[in-house]
Amino acid sequence: MDKEMKRGGFIAFEGIDGSGKSTQSALLIQRLRREGIPCYATMEPTDSPIGSLIRQIMTGRIKTDNKVIAALFAADRLDHLLNEVDGIAAKIDEGTTVVTDRYYFSSYAYNSVHMPMEWVIKANEQSSAILRPSVTVFIDVEPDTALERIAKNRFRQELFEKKSMLVKVRENYMKAFKLLEKEEKVVIIDGNQPEDKIAETVWDEVKGYL
Ligand code: ADP
Ligand code: TYD
Repeated sequence: MDKEMKRGGFIAFEGIDGSGKSTQSALLIQRLRREGIPCYATMEPTDSPIGSLIRQIMTGRIKTDNKVIAALFAADRLDHLLNEVDGIAAKIDEGTTVVTDRYYFSSYAYNSVHMPMEWVIKANEQSSAILRPSVTVFIDVEPDTALERIAKNRFRQELFEKKSMLVKVRENYMKAFKLLEKEEKVVIIDGNQPEDKIAETVWDEVKGYL
């Protein structure tokens, strides 16, 4: 079969804030480039107008109900997939491997703190119908570790970066992985190792999906 026709992979990094997702997304992109695999790095919330609205809500500049926030994340995700300029669904169809820092499991874990997880999963059904990750990589650290990393490196704390919240979010991730184990491929990686060791493990886990 023509090699040019092969679809790209879709790798989603997940984890609580400060777990090291962004670091690992960047390292995976570096690795894909070294391997000569066409790739594209992205994240959610996106930098679209919807994503920017979400960030203003997260920093407390705009106030709204948690149900509205959950719906905005779902809308931002659909735009991330489908927008005409740089939608990732088309990129993958054209053979580019996409690495995203957060995808719908972030909604299942974070937005379910305030409403039933089933509701959040339903609200994201259009996205899961369009594009499921080839594999979701969950970088796992304890909330205390994540908060130490954030405190060391960041000036402001956003809405979700309180310990009790991160404890709940981590539990929600595990609940969502269990709930969707038939539909989704998820690997859980110990995030308490040096960055380059984690990156090696990530590569070993994802290369088979590309
Ligand atoms: P996230 O995207 O999950 O919020 P980041 O990748 O931004 O996490 O990492 C949070 C902070 O922790 C950063 O300052 C980063 O340099 C640091 N960090 C990332 N990975 C590790 C690691 N394996 N060990 C120690 N510190 C790390
Ligand atoms: P972000 O700037 O990506 O922070 P981090 O570096 O910690 O990942 O902030 C995203 C925040 O939005 C994070 O606290 C998780 C939350 N979030 C949701 O609540 N629902 C979602 O669907 C997504 C994608 C993120």
